[in-house]
This record gives sequence, C-alpha cells and structure tokens, in this order.
Amino acid sequence: MPSEKARRKKKVETNIRQMEIDDISSVYHLGEQLFTSDEFPILYRTWDQYEVTDYFTSDPDYCLIAETEPDGKIVGFTLATTIEKEGTAWKKYGYLSWIGVDEAFQRTNLGVRLYRKLEQRLRRSGVRMIIADTDAENEAAIVFFKALGFSHSSQHVWLAKTIRRPNKGNTKAKNSSKTT
Ligand SMILES: CC(C)(COP(=O)(O)OP(=O)(O)OC[C@H]1O[C@@H](n2cnc3c(N)ncnc32)[C@H](O)[C@@H]1OP(=O)(O)O)[C@@H](O)C(=O)NCCC(=O)NCCS
Repeated sequence: MPSEKARRKKKVETNIRQMEIDDISSVYHLGEQLFTSDEFPILYRTWDQYEVTDYFTSDPDYCLIAETEPDGKIVGFTLATTIEKEGTAWKKYGYLSWIGVDEAFQRTNLGVRLYRKLEQRLRRSGVRMIIADTDAENEAAIVFFKALGFSHSSQHVWLAKTIRRPNKGNTKAKNSSKTT
C-alpha cells in the first residue's frame, strides 16, 4: 500500500458522482472493510447489503460515490436521507448515515469532497440542518465531522438485554399442570 506522501505525490484523480445500480456491490464491499463489527457492535449500525440497497432505493440523490479516474475503482461513498418533522425549528433535516473512504485514499480530502457534494444536494432540497452520528471511540470520524463544522453533540447510551430461552424444566411442569 503506498504511503500517504507517495499518494499525495502521485495524485490519483478521483471523480464524485451519484451511485448507480452496478456500484452497489463495490460500495458494500468497501463498507465491509471500513465498518467492522468491532467498531460498530450495535445492531442498528451493522453494515450489510440492505443498508446500501435500501438507501439506493429510497434516496438515490444522496447516495454518492468517489471513483478513481480513468479506471473507475470505487474508493469512497455516502449514504444519506432526509427526515421531515413538522413543528420543529428546521422542519427538514438531513441524516448522513454512512460515509466511507478507502484507507489508501484517506486524508486526501476525499471525505470532505464527498460531504460537500452531499451537503449541496441536501441544501437544494430544503435541508437546513444535517445530523451525523458515530461511535464515541471513532476519533477519526469525530475530528472529521468537527472539521466540517458539525458541533452540537450529545451522548446516547445504548442498553441491551439478552432474552433467555425458556427453561425446559419449567415448560414441562407448566404443560403437565395444564392437563390435570
Ligand atoms: C471518517 C472518514 C470518512 C474521513 O475521510 P477522509 O477522506 O480520510 O477525510 P479527509 O481527508 O477529507 O479529512 C478532512 C479532515 O478531517 C480530519 N481527519 C480525517 N481523518 C482523520 C484522522 N484519521 N485523524 C485525525 N483527523 C482526521 C482532519 O482534520 C482532516 O484534515 P487534514 O487532513 O487537512 O488534517 C474516513 O476516515 C473513513 O472512511 N473512516 C472509516 C469509516 C467511518 O468511520 N465513517 C464515519 C462514520 S459513518
């Protein structure tokens, strides 16, 4: 893998465009490398193929990809949506659900370029506030979002409970008491 310096020197050209159906598999596989279950253990943030296909179907305008030129390798993407809440200050919100940049292209400003294009599209559709979330330990993403001007942050605590299987002994006892 080339060093960051070598990459900057080589200056691989990248182009940002809207995702197309043939890009779905590449985006999914790039996300698989970036969003590992160690980093995102919470189920709702689990990366799977439905994340890509669902956003592609519901919000194609906000599904962007970055590809190298001229070979067309996908090296970055965004998946986002809008949320409308009547009676709230901003009424229409953008939600940046996933943004990812291939490790070999990180720190080359590609994330910023992807985000800026997304923000432009969200703004044109009437969005005045954009929300993003990430794991509290994902320092790179937090610094990245702050560099983009995101500020208000609040911590959210997730709680989990394992539902135990019914105890076999108790089930038998219940069943037998029913028949008497
Ligand atoms: C977060 C992510 C998208 C950033 O993409 P990127 O292309 O590397 O970011 P950029 O090169 O545009 O960086 C812009 C600025 O963000 C900050 N930043 C980005 N990555 C950083 C890092 N690893 N450490 C510290 N600051 C970082 C810097 O201020 C940087 O500016 P600089 O390079 O001039 O110092 C990328 O690291 C990534 O794909 N991470 C894995 C997936 C992820 O966590 N996504 C976010 C949650 S959905």
